Amino acid sequence: MPEYAIVATQPGGPDRLEKRAIAAPVPGPGEALVRHTAIGLNFIDVYHRSGLYPWPVERDLVPGSEAAGVVESVGDGVAAVAPGDRVAYTIPFGAYATLRTIAADRLVKVPDGISDEDAASLMLKGLTAQYLIHSTFRVEPGMTVLVQAAAGGVGLLLGQWLAARGATAIGTAGGPEKVALAAAHGYAHVVDYHAEDFAARVRALTGGQGVHVVYDSVGRDTWRGSLACLRPRGTFVCFGQSSGVIEGFGVPDLAKGSFSACRPSLFHYVATPEELRARAADLFAAVGSGALRAGVRQRHPLGQVAEAHRDLEARRTTGATVLLP
Ligand SMILES: NC(=O)c1ccc[n+]([C@@H]2O[C@H](COP(=O)([O-])OP(=O)(O)OC[C@H]3O[C@@H](n4cnc5c(N)ncnc54)[C@H](OP(=O)(O)O)[C@@H]3O)[C@@H](O)[C@H]2O)c1
Repeated sequence: MPEYAIVATQPGGPDRLEKRAIAAPVPGPGEALVRHTAIGLNFIDVYHRSGLYPWPVERDLVPGSEAAGVVESVGDGVAAVAPGDRVAYTIPFGAYATLRTIAADRLVKVPDGISDEDAASLMLKGLTAQYLIHSTFRVEPGMTVLVQAAAGGVGLLLGQWLAARGATAIGTAGGPEKVALAAAHGYAHVVDYHAEDFAARVRALTGGQGVHVVYDSVGRDTWRGSLACLRPRGTFVCFGQSSGVIEGFGVPDLAKGSFSACRPSLFHYVATPEELRARAADLFAAVGSGALRAGVRQRHPLGQVAEAHRDLEARRTTGATVLLP
């Protein structure tokens, strides 16, 4: 079978993504060669492709930030994984390929009972849900939480995990089908933000009190409303910008309720192999206990990734999407 990667030679639209034949790489010291069986699609891939996030390479970017597969061979000094192991990982780019080399200490073994597709869809999105509600802001039972884009990949995981923690999760989503889907994934209330003023509705749902924390990955279109949903001393967690980069925000916006604000990124929360493994163990335990269902909802051949990007950007997806090599 010829090996290939999906490459973009310069930032731009989905048409920039080209299929290119590659030679199978040889793992160097500390590396493993992984044959991908499923690759997760994420909004960060869109930010890289479009150039919203600066390219981490001079040219010829292979996007893709999470995947699962099987170790084919290892380089010198690798003891943690061995040929034949089922593994998964998240790193900022390079996953859109039939196979790749990767530092072995970025791999986690996938437990029996979790499929490759689920593992591929969980490494970035699930670890994000994990750190957001345990570390960025520690959600305690009884708290009330707002999640924007609740029917999205991260959104469906957050709703389930928040419910399992005993929090009341309120979500927003665009359109009745997405509202129903989010409601089936742990959200106690879901507001269609295409149809009504979500901030007014959230204030009404909380008896005028507001929520303890907002997890907002939509950005430009929602940040003002998100702040209006907070109770005094509440926390605004901006972790993405699906609608565009936030404009006009300033520290004085926090004065209205002595709010806190932060802009976290997964890769700062899994920077060491120890922290990566601990968070992944927590994630896989939540899946194993039944508290969290991964639920891949769209599948595309890797060679047709441009179509998958168009669907994600046009808000046509729900939950997770995987690319199949
Ligand atoms: N900081 C981190 O560590 C981190 C890690 C993972 C993901 N993220 C961020 O989390 C967000 C969710 O990622 P995901 O991969 O799971 O994507 P997703 O939520 O499945 O897809 C994005 C969703 O955002 C909503 N949206 C609102 N306005 C939009 C617009 N103008 N264009 C496109 N979508 C819009 C749409 O839902 P509705 O139709 O319901 O509005 C859409 O389905 C992204 O912003 C991503 O960058 C951040």
